[in-house]
Amino acid sequence: MAIRFDNRVAIVTGAGAGLGEQHAKLLASLGAKVVVNDPGGAVDGRGTAAAVADKVVAEIKAAGGEAVASYDSVATWAGAQNIVKTAMDNWGRMDILVANAGILRDKSFNNMDMEDFEVVMQVHLMGTVYCTKAAWQIMRSQRYGRVVVTTSGSGTVGNFGQANYGAAKMAVNGFINVMRHEGQNYNIKLNAISPSARTRMTESLIPAEVAEWMKPELVSPAVAYMCSEQCDFSGEIIGANAGHYRRVKYFEAEGVQFDPAEPVTVDMFAEALPKVMDISHPIEHGMSSRRLADRLKAMGRIK
Ligand code: NAI
Repeated sequence: MAIRFDNRVAIVTGAGAGLGEQHAKLLASLGAKVVVNDPGGAVDGRGTAAAVADKVVAEIKAAGGEAVASYDSVATWAGAQNIVKTAMDNWGRMDILVANAGILRDKSFNNMDMEDFEVVMQVHLMGTVYCTKAAWQIMRSQRYGRVVVTTSGSGTVGNFGQANYGAAKMAVNGFINVMRHEGQNYNIKLNAISPSARTRMTESLIPAEVAEWMKPELVSPAVAYMCSEQCDFSGEIIGANAGHYRRVKYFEAEGVQFDPAEPVTVDMFAEALPKVMDISHPIEHGMSSRRLADRLKAMGRIK
């Protein structure tokens, strides 16, 4: 069965360049009506350039697709509401949100101004939150929605000089982890893409030997799938780079269980540390209260 987006309306934020441009073009080529949102500007978020969104809209239309430009910033609540309004005014519905807009203000934490921290949080985290909030009532009332947020290895693994960016990128994972529960009864699925691709944002970071294969358009199929009716999972992270795709999960160690009826000293903890840290028998990270009950039953502390 071919995946298509006929009669679906999508918003792609930051769609004037890089990954967002490819996501927008792929969705449009498969029948979606697309709001190409991008105020333009430099990688650090300074300045604006309406032309970037206009160019992508023109290219989508030239290829026979339907698209409209939006120049609002995701970083304000009013801007996000206007982006969603653009979809509603043009097509009367809104099914898909790809929260892709992003900037960088890299510096070691020691040298980072708080403004650089806050602006990055505002675009990546609050931009994702504002756009989702603006779309939420609409998606709930139509009992359908697909949201794809954009995370990064900078959050899940960490990267020197990106305390602001890593914090924001990890935060969107926490956001969808909760929202997947809240969207569950309304067929709203929220997932994350963890991309790696050659764009202006990463030009100087990607090793030269692999750069030619790190095509942004190779990330978009995973994003489009998570935007589709066929996608039946929620709260997942899919990593994608150079044609490689994989699920990203968190795991925990078996750990050590002391008798909770007795005090635990720091020295006891220190001695148990090898077991606490031993991840050779990984368990999928999850709500731990059920496993705790099993362990306490085995110890005879609960029935
Ligand atoms: P890019 O710089 O080519 O594209 C980002 C786009 O977002 C730009 O066109 C920019 O004008 C737009 N944008 C910036 N602030 C905005 C705002 N306030 N409102 C709306 N649009 C805004 O960068 P790239 O690489 O395409 O990044 C896309 C997303 O993927 C970002 O969220 C980025 O953090 C993320 N990402 C990229 C990776 C990569 O390897 N390229 C790796 C991990 C994550």
